[in-house]
Amino acid sequence: MSMLDTAQIRAQFPALQQQVNGQPAIFFDGPAGTQSPQSVIDAMRDYLATGSSNLGGEFVVSQRTGQVAAAARHAMADMLNARRPEEISFGQNMTSLTFAVSRAIARTWQAGDEIIVTRLDHDANIAPWLLAAEDKGVTVRWLDFDSADCTLQLDTLPDLLTDKTRLLAITLASNAVGSITDIRRAVDSAHANGTLVYVDSVHYAPHGLINVQAFDCDFLVCSAYKFYGPHTGILYGKYEHMAALTAYKVRPAPALPPGKWETGTQSFESLAGVTAAVDYLAGLSTVNGDRRTRLSQAMANINLHETALSERFLRGVTSIPGLKVYGITDIERLDERAPTFAISLEGYTAAELAQRLGATGIFVWDGHYYAVAVMERLGLLESGGLVRIGFVHYNTSAEVDRLLDTLHALAAEITEIN
Ligand SMILES: Cc1ncc(COP(=O)(O)O)c(C=O)c1O
Repeated sequence: MSMLDTAQIRAQFPALQQQVNGQPAIFFDGPAGTQSPQSVIDAMRDYLATGSSNLGGEFVVSQRTGQVAAAARHAMADMLNARRPEEISFGQNMTSLTFAVSRAIARTWQAGDEIIVTRLDHDANIAPWLLAAEDKGVTVRWLDFDSADCTLQLDTLPDLLTDKTRLLAITLASNAVGSITDIRRAVDSAHANGTLVYVDSVHYAPHGLINVQAFDCDFLVCSAYKFYGPHTGILYGKYEHMAALTAYKVRPAPALPPGKWETGTQSFESLAGVTAAVDYLAGLSTVNGDRRTRLSQAMANINLHETALSERFLRGVTSIPGLKVYGITDIERLDERAPTFAISLEGYTAAELAQRLGATGIFVWDGHYYAVAVMERLGLLESGGLVRIGFVHYNTSAEVDRLLDTLHALAAEITEIN
């Protein structure tokens, strides 16, 4: 049973109140970005309204800006369970942070070294590594996924690791098919080989508790706009790595983390929003305690709610003729997937299906959503990819039912034509 009061939750999100062609909008586009609660909007507005400034000035507005940045760092350290706030750096988005860190890490590589990327990843955790490898004459090996259930073939990882493997770039959850990776298992294999691990947790972050200490990963990235916050990227790195690596930075910038990684002026209004987003999530908890304790219980509540939506969806689609779900469809294995479903419906291209759903106010994504390697591997890149339906905690079972009814009607149109 869901511990979340969705009516009370939804009332906090102004964007969810809108209608499309007389129908309430249904936001099933969470994997591409979530909506923000009023508390996040207020925090960002308040920062700008009380005066914005750069860091380090001898006046009150600048000092307040310093407090806003420190609070956001603290909030993200709680959310990711970093050992210390200095292990958290902010940047424009996950992609830009990954380009910056990949260049810095690549300075430590020699020609003939090797790295591993996966076919399950978003291109933001592939392309930066391919380009850095090309610059340094480094060989790239690919960790594949099983095309039947779209889960990474972690049992083949030991075969890919050699004494030359410097880095494994790997996703915590696929933004296309939802599969969750057993990160600790991947990290243990990589570390036994002296290989660093860079984890993309962008897709996973709104769905489950991240624990960088339990994962023991070396780096981890996420993006606040996927967990109800503003457009800001977040980078975790073990302090020893972040201190030792050479960052591409301007000379007066701090020599130590996190400042050495935060190039230029940050979006401080976004950092105010990041803190508010973490506090919003912690507020979904029904227990008292410190923020990490509340986040832990809140994410468990979210997981329960989202799993119920996934089950309803998967049971519902079995009776829709011509509908195929990619990835894990076994109800018993829902703990191995995020509530993100890539689907096809016979008679429609992905773009046509997304347009038909969009016209009825159901927001979904179509194409490859930058999971280019996934679509390539499934042989769907040229034909326009798949429709992606993503549930988050503010979605309801009534919304899932409306989606199922609409898909039934669209399938019936094709049956009538044939
Ligand atoms: C799994 C995953 N990784 C990385 C990214 C890129 O994140 P950003 O937009 O913050 O660069 C996305 C964005 O959709 C994503 O879903």
